[in-house]
Amino acid sequence: MFEEGIGKYIRPELKSFGGYAASKAPETLKGKISVPVDKIIKLDANENPYGCSPKVEKALAEYKGIHIYPDSGQQELRKHLQDYTGVPMEHIVASAGSDQLIDLLMRLFISKGDEVINCIPTFAMFQFFINLVDGTTVNVLRDENFMVDVKALKKAITPKTKLILLATPNNPTGTIMPKKDILAVLDSGIPTLVDEAYYEFTGETMAQLVGKYKNLMVIRTFSKWAGLAGLRIGYGMFPLEIANILLKIKEPYCVNVAAQLAAIESVKDKEYLMEKVKIISAERDNLYTLLQQTGWLKPYPSKANFILCAVLKGRAKDIQQKLEEMGILVRYFYTPLLKDSLRISVGKPEENKALIQALNKIGEGL
Ligand SMILES: Cc1ncc(COP(=O)(O)O)c(C=O)c1O
Repeated sequence: MFEEGIGKYIRPELKSFGGYAASKAPETLKGKISVPVDKIIKLDANENPYGCSPKVEKALAEYKGIHIYPDSGQQELRKHLQDYTGVPMEHIVASAGSDQLIDLLMRLFISKGDEVINCIPTFAMFQFFINLVDGTTVNVLRDENFMVDVKALKKAITPKTKLILLATPNNPTGTIMPKKDILAVLDSGIPTLVDEAYYEFTGETMAQLVGKYKNLMVIRTFSKWAGLAGLRIGYGMFPLEIANILLKIKEPYCVNVAAQLAAIESVKDKEYLMEKVKIISAERDNLYTLLQQTGWLKPYPSKANFILCAVLKGRAKDIQQKLEEMGILVRYFYTPLLKDSLRISVGKPEENKALIQALNKIGEGL
């Protein structure tokens, strides 16, 4: 197919690009399952079940500037992010989701054949963006508790290594990387990305060391703690020379006016949002116990807003399918490293209750 017509002009390395298995939009299930779209319980993308701050909704409803391009320099937003993070705004760059910063960093550092160290299993978008720039992935396996094997990681560094990727808490495992391990990696001097998408659920961060370590870059998102996944807004904290070049290479208006406004209102209303984070974290711990009590799921301890479970009886894909038919969306994995696993985002108490009831029903037939 690719050899004919316009297809033959596509970059050869992208012809077999696998894409990303994105989470399901509930509306795509309309008519396919008996549960109405508005009753679907969505626990497959680590979104915030409580939504955004009411102040965000109000500000967006009242906003009158949609016809004007956003500030490409993100001055006001970066000032608020400075207050929120304690990191001077010169080090901060915002993006359309933190995904976009991963993309930009790949383009900044990786040419064909350059090596990127990825600690698997981890966030699938890392591999996605390495593939897009035709980088070479050097996989370092996490240990049986999904901790990064720092010794193995350091051994994997070669003269071609241009970037090291670390997510803490890690998605989909929920594992924290201890600060001393991150420092040991930073000692290598190789540009290192610490992805803190779930920072607000842990309070542990490397942000205060940005600028002090010339190779430390930290990214975060408003998708999880602030409930802004649909608006696409994230940000990163970088050494000055990296922040400056990112500001130049990013698409000028990458963060739209609604997203900028929503992020500013979110940091202004952080007490409200952090109250919800606390509720989600407590609910995660309840859910962990309930999942364990099924007897056929083995949940792994998580510090984020989701729980990874090994499926001990039956197939993860079948369980995911049955849950979907019952109107509950979760994520399943079947890879060499995550055989028969489910990743379940923490919902509201009533949603988690419905999930457990559904799992118990499924469990009777296993
Ligand atoms: C570890 C990690 N990094 C980044 C992201 C992407 O977040 P965003 O919505 O800001 O692109 C996610 C989302 O699931 C994630 O789990």
